[in-house]
Parts: sequence; structure tokens; C-alpha cells
Amino acid sequence: MSLKDSIIKERLPKHIAIIMDGNGRWAKQHGNARIFGHKSAMKAVREVCEGCAELGVDYLTLYAFSTENWNRPKMEVMGLMDLLVSAINTETDTLIKNNIRLNAIGRLTDLPEKVRTNLMDAIGRTKDNTGLTLTLALSYSSKVELVDAVRKIARDVESGTIAADSIDDSVVSRNLYTGGMPDPDLLIRTSGEYRISNFMLWQLAYSELYFTPTFWPDFDKEELYKAIVDYQHRERRFGLTSEQIG
Ligand code: FPP
Repeated sequence: MSLKDSIIKERLPKHIAIIMDGNGRWAKQHGNARIFGHKSAMKAVREVCEGCAELGVDYLTLYAFSTENWNRPKMEVMGLMDLLVSAINTETDTLIKNNIRLNAIGRLTDLPEKVRTNLMDAIGRTKDNTGLTLTLALSYSSKVELVDAVRKIARDVESGTIAADSIDDSVVSRNLYTGGMPDPDLLIRTSGEYRISNFMLWQLAYSELYFTPTFWPDFDKEELYKAIVDYQHRERRFGLTSEQIG
């Protein structure tokens, strides 16, 4: 039986989030500049999108650029921004063809005008698609997201829209960039690093974590299936006992 066939359709993760790491090391291993690694990463992005869409996963969130990434060498940052623009332009028709809805989270106002306009245009063109929701985390930091949410809620308290005592976890969730999305069931991080790196700290509270030594450019559908099969062997207890889940 193939790995894909061993996936239990009824127990698919609804939301998969991925920290795509290892592009730079992959490029170095191949004797190339870091940007070559980022360009080669696009194949893996296509593979996971296609893989998730085919299986019927509802949400895929990719950590594409963190707020900390702005501090990388200028050439690399510019290369990544150019790559984003060209990826959006070349892939949007494929997203439409595959019924994929594009979405973005992060401080999008930090992005260069060209990236933002292309991104907003692609989001608009795919907004009525009903299949996979593909969310790109861009200029994203979970701590900044929480700060932004706290500010929004504080403004609502100031204006009398909400009472301080009625703030609960659903109010916080609603005010995050991911408001309205389910929390990730499965987080994948590539390249053998065991960190969360300021990614969806609130939303990952009960997610299953999966780490693989594979560098992101080598990640493909089989690797995705492997992660999902591993996830399906876990017992998710959400703080309860095995017997209670039973
Ligand atoms: C991490 O590898 C990767 C990034 C910081 C950028 C990822 C961006 C892409 C794959 C392009 C995204 C485009 C779309 C449309 C999703 P690293 O550079 O930190 O690798 P290293 O740890 O080996 O140096």
C-alpha cells in the first residue's frame, strides 16, 4: 500500500502550518547562493499546495517571511520580494484552476508596494474559490500579531464595544490576523531545527508538532504524506485522559 493510500481520509488535519526552513543550507550544499535555495523552494511550495488540495485539507499556512527576516542582507531580502511578485504572477491562474483561495497574514503594510498590490490582486481574484485556503505569513511575527490584537481589543474596550470582563479566548482568537480560521492541527518544520520561531504561538497551543531533517527545497508530496501519517498515529488529548477520549 502506498503512503498516500494509508492516509485515513476521515481524520485529515483540517489545517496544516509549515515553517519552510533550510533553503540557505540546501543552496550551500549545492554550491550556490542563498537566493538559489529560495527559488528552488517554489517547487516544494507547489508540491504541498497540490498535495493538500488533492487530499482535501482545508487550510495550509506557509511561513514565508518573518518580521526578523527584514534584517537579512539587502540583496537576499530584495531577491525574496522579487520572488514573491513573480510567484504570485505566475501561480495565480493555477490557484484559480485548482479552486485555491489565497490569503495573507502579517503586517502587510511593511511589504513593498509592488508585492502588496500583486498580492491583493491575487487575493481578490481567488476570493470566491471554495477549496483549499492557502495563507502566506508575510512580515509575520506572532508577538507582533498578539500586540496588534491587544491594541484592537483595548480600543474596543475604550469605545465601550466590549467590557473588559467579557474578554475570553474566543475574543482574543477573533482579533488575531487568523481570526475566523481554525487553529493548525499539524505544524511541520523542515531542516532539523526544533523551534517555533515566533510563529502562531497562540494558535499552536494544541497542535501536533512534526520535525523533519529534510531541507525545504527537497520537501515533496511523499514527505507531506509521511507527516500526515505520523500525525494520524498521535492521540490528541487536549488536556484530557486517554479514557475520556476513548
Ligand atoms: C527559510 O530558509 C526560508 C525563508 C526565510 C524564505 C521562504 C520563502 C520561500 C520559500 C518563498 C515563498 C514564496 C511563496 C509564494 C510561498 P533559510 O533561508 O532560513 O534557510 P537556512 O536556515 O538554511 O539559512
